[in-house]
Amino acid sequence: MSGCPFAGNNYLLNFNKLSLEEEKDDKSQEGINKASKGGLVYGDYLQLNKILNAQELQSEKKGNKIHDEHLFIVTHQAYELWFKQILWEMDSVRVIFQNGHVRDERNMLKVITRMNRISMILKLLVEQFSVLETMTALDFFDFRYYLSPASGFQSLQFRLLENKIGVPQSLRVPYNRRHYRDNFKGQDYELLLKSEQEPTLLQLVEAWLERTPGLDAEGFDFWGQFEVNVLKGLEEEFALVQAKPESEEKDDDLSEFQKQKDVLLSLFDEKRHEHLLSKGERRLSYKALKGALMIYFYREEPRFQVPFQLLTSLMDIDVLMTKWRYNHVCMVHRMIGSKAGTGGSSGYQYLRSTVRLTLFLDKFYFISTMRVEVWRL
Ligand code: HEM
Repeated sequence: MSGCPFAGNNYLLNFNKLSLEEEKDDKSQEGINKASKGGLVYGDYLQLNKILNAQELQSEKKGNKIHDEHLFIVTHQAYELWFKQILWEMDSVRVIFQNGHVRDERNMLKVITRMNRISMILKLLVEQFSVLETMTALDFFDFRYYLSPASGFQSLQFRLLENKIGVPQSLRVPYNRRHYRDNFKGQDYELLLKSEQEPTLLQLVEAWLERTPGLDAEGFDFWGQFEVNVLKGLEEEFALVQAKPESEEKDDDLSEFQKQKDVLLSLFDEKRHEHLLSKGERRLSYKALKGALMIYFYREEPRFQVPFQLLTSLMDIDVLMTKWRYNHVCMVHRMIGSKAGTGGSSGYQYLRSTVRLTLFLDKFYFISTMRVEVWRL
């Protein structure tokens, strides 16, 4: 006899049959068919007639229907829908900051929830390329010809996203030696211009960080004390390395120590910070950087727990945007090698140069990876 309780014909025959007694007690079929009475039904609510009829295969139109073009279109549409949701969340977060509503703790929680949501969507979008990668380069070539000059480069929502988060215009990679905006016209152009002029999420966070409680508190010189502790810590660290016997390892440790020392000491050099800021190599004002470090060091304190989560989710978003660019460029390389893009760029080479476009090129990143915490106040 088989050990499987589902084996045997008898069971299969009776699988869907309930005894009269059981039928009486069966709750699974209780309910009212509300939709049959009219009103708003699923398809109408979601306007599926529009969405599900928006996959027009260019290959089919040209009389040479290529199966995989359907996947290509649906994938791009799914990306655009998620971009829309990210913009929706980000705009609402920016409004909360802009109106000064972050001072209310309840709103701060709303901000964190929405920022985390953005991270989750981005994670999905980073992974989503793998579905499109089930299409081979040869399959893609069967319909690629029909797409030109359409290109993801013309995605309005992607550019809005970059601008609203805070990709600085000065760091933008030119597109065939022209400004990215030149590829847009009319209302889209205006929307992009507006998004460049409005305060970015990063600028709003910066202003909020500058108001970190405790930074200006009288009688408590957080920054001065921090500097004293860092200098003391560096001295102790140097003594430890110096005490090691002469060896290659000691030389390595000394050069590593020197690097860390340079970064740490530059923290207290406001002029240097301003200079790097003007070159786009730092992104937060000096005061905001102090606020970020204070939140980071005192993240266990109840009043800094939520701000710390906000900083963490900003860094997550920054990293995920980079991962998105990276996964996209890897897929592009696999699909078209070093051929030019349908939009007219050099393709892989152009996209590779955009991968370095991060948001928070800041000391805050470096510091959070150092042992400096042990020297905090
Ligand atoms: C077979 C798949 C894909 C290929 C071969 C491809 C290729 C390219 C190429 C070559 C460019 C550079 C511009 C150009 O000259 O056309 C580009 C840009 C872009 N693509 Fe794709 N792409 C693919 C899928 C996707 C998907 C699924 C999305 C999702 C929305 C996307 C979004 C973008 C965006 C936003 C840009 C502009 C990036 C920037 O300028 O920083 N691409 N793509």
